[in-house]
Amino acid sequence: MKKFPDNFLWGAATSAHQIEEYSCNNWSVWEKKNAKKWAQSATEKWQLWQQKKFPEMFEAENYISGRATEYYTRYEEDLDLAKAGGHNAHRFSIDWARIEPRDGEFDSKAIEHYKNVVRAISERNMEPFVTLWHWTHPLWLEERGGVLAKDFPEKFAHYAHIMAEALGESVKFYVTLNEPTSYIAGGYIAGKWPPGEKNIFHMLQAYKKLSSAHNLAYDVIHKQQENVHIGFTNILWRFKPSKNTLFHRALIRFAYYFTNEKFLRMTQDHNDYLSVQYYFSVTLSLMGIVKEKNTTFVTDLGWLIDPKGVYESIMFLKKYNLPIYLTEDGLADRSDMKREKFIRDNLAQVQRAISDGADVQGYFHWSLTDNFEWDKGFWPQFGLIEIDRKTLERKQRKSFWVYKNIIDRNAI
Ligand code: FCB
Repeated sequence: MKKFPDNFLWGAATSAHQIEEYSCNNWSVWEKKNAKKWAQSATEKWQLWQQKKFPEMFEAENYISGRATEYYTRYEEDLDLAKAGGHNAHRFSIDWARIEPRDGEFDSKAIEHYKNVVRAISERNMEPFVTLWHWTHPLWLEERGGVLAKDFPEKFAHYAHIMAEALGESVKFYVTLNEPTSYIAGGYIAGKWPPGEKNIFHMLQAYKKLSSAHNLAYDVIHKQQENVHIGFTNILWRFKPSKNTLFHRALIRFAYYFTNEKFLRMTQDHNDYLSVQYYFSVTLSLMGIVKEKNTTFVTDLGWLIDPKGVYESIMFLKKYNLPIYLTEDGLADRSDMKREKFIRDNLAQVQRAISDGADVQGYFHWSLTDNFEWDKGFWPQFGLIEIDRKTLERKQRKSFWVYKNIIDRNAI
């Protein structure tokens, strides 16, 4: 048995829009606009085995978050489950659109609600990790250009200030932004996420806006509280070249820069910790990402399971000499046949990185429960806890107990 460091944080991560019922933000509008189209184009997007196994992908309803998992009203039930799973930390996000439904107007009831959520987490002896922007913001801001709005950084920092003031000393860890580069790629290059653009100039602007939003919020929160730990969560990609040529190697370097590195550089000196969110490795050719042919070592989404990337991602961050948290790590696996091995294999890579000197201090599995997976809707199921789509009944999967066992021993 190999031990994890003492005081290691163990938990699960969630995000507001994916679990809270009846959100009204940039994403809820986007999904309503696109649901039909996504259902109709499922044949082009997914392989035959996926189409057969998950026929919900052909229904427009699958792509509307709607009542989601009703976490907004049932959070205590879910936090009890997290507690029963041995978790000593919990990552969740605040929906800015609920807090500031109109420009400059803050909803005291919504603020009170999130204070109660934090209280409920702390009462269960879990450390709250609070994400301030997990890809959703108010509609009035989206109408002004979303993250490209002239005053996006200032508006974000002001909202961060309001929340940090309200939550006070009960929160020690803030995530300003979740995976800014995923949002930039989805919204400004691939055009599949809001605001649906394919515009390289806007992409570069989005890097600027989001990094200054992070930096400003970092300063504002630290002005109020010196002792909090602030960072952003970072998607880390693992690229493999389709051929070993100079061109391919240059291409990989370019891809690494825009995905894993650029945002880190733009926020240098404004991070108290660094984060790893690594989901898969991909092969890159000069034409782009090569379609994955492997159907064995893949998740329900067809994402290649490649634990080495966990080690590489952590070691890539080691040079910055900051504490590292895996703020998300998980897989879509409805039958729960692969989750146990996935957790063990990935944690073995975390231990390898710790043995090689990386200061890893916590791990959050994505996700506590099944939820709404953005433009893919409800069919991919990431939960340690399964949720019945009709009754919303919660049921722990086998891997939930496997994870508990690891936490109880603080070892694998
Ligand atoms: C991450 C997102 C998270 C979830 C997982 C599967 O990129 O941060 O909300 O969708 O992927």
